[in-house]
Parts: sequence; C-alpha cells; structure tokens
Amino acid sequence: MAGAVTKGGSGGNVFAIGAADPRLLAEPLDYLETEHYRMRAVLSLLERFVSEPKPRVRAATARLAVDFIRSDLLLHVLDENDGLFPLLRIRCDVADGLDRILARIAEEPARGAATCAEIVRKLLAACHGRAVGKGVRVAVERFVGSQRRLLALEDAFVLPLARQRLTDADRSWLSRQMSERRQ
Ligand SMILES: [Fe+2]
Repeated sequence: MAGAVTKGGSGGNVFAIGAADPRLLAEPLDYLETEHYRMRAVLSLLERFVSEPKPRVRAATARLAVDFIRSDLLLHVLDENDGLFPLLRIRCDVADGLDRILARIAEEPARGAATCAEIVRKLLAACHGRAVGKGVRVAVERFVGSQRRLLALEDAFVLPLARQRLTDADRSWLSRQMSERRQ
C-alpha cells in the first residue's frame, strides 16, 4: 500500500516510505488522503528517531524525514492552501463550519514554514551524526503532535466535506493543478 514503511539497505535498518501512486492524481481527494497516510508513516518514524540509539539508523531516519518535509509535505500544503481550500470556500455554506476548521488548521505550528524549517535544521544536524539532545527531542515531539492534530482535522472534517461539496469540474481542476505542480 502507498505510504507503507519498508525496510531497505544492507543492514535492514534503514527505512523508506513508499511513493504515492501518480495515477491517483486523477482522483485528487484520494491522492490527498494517501499523502496523509504517508505523513503518518513519517511521524511514526520521527517518534522512533528521538529514542533511536544507533547513529546510522538515526541519520537515515532524519534524512528520510527531511526529504519528505522538503518535497512531499511542501507540495501537499500547496495542494491544500492553493487548491482544495479555496475551492471549499466557494462551495461550502456557512453552516458547514469551514471557516472555523480552516482557522484551526492555520493556527497549528506545523502548518507554518518557520516550524518546518526549524525541524529540518534540527534533523539535518542529526544526519551529520549529532546526538539527539533535549531541544531536538522536544521540537520533534511538538512537530509530530501538531501534524497529527492537522491530520485528524483534515481527515475528520475537510476531506469528507470536499467529497460532499466539490463538483466533478472542481475535482478535474484540482487534479490538473496538482499534476502540473509535480511536473
Ligand atoms: Fe493535508
């Protein structure tokens, strides 16, 4: 399944996150949901990272998370901020409560570029062999908690609302926009 954590490398201790199937871009809401699964897999790895005793595994885990945050997560946030959310603002009624949900999403620290950049900086230090100190552990745990709150909000409210409210034309537009972003 896309998003599954697999073992790789000669020692069997280096992990990889399966790539999202690009054919899913034809169904953009399914693609976004798949990205959430992949994000959960990265968050599980980050939880293990903070207590991982082996420097090589720690560095490999940090590198995987850095690559994900810099590429997949960045694209995913653009998919939502520039695509899905504006469409939902057009299609939803006030009674849907969308504004309140989007405000909560915007308030989560992990949604911000500054927090993501800080986590990347701390993880890069671990890539170069530095031990995980308390500051890194606390920052990673906060990032994981914030991302999990985001995923819970989006999976419980945003995606179900999108499945109800978006038209076929909306989905086609979103699909094209997300595909172009990945070319
Ligand atoms: Fe999301």
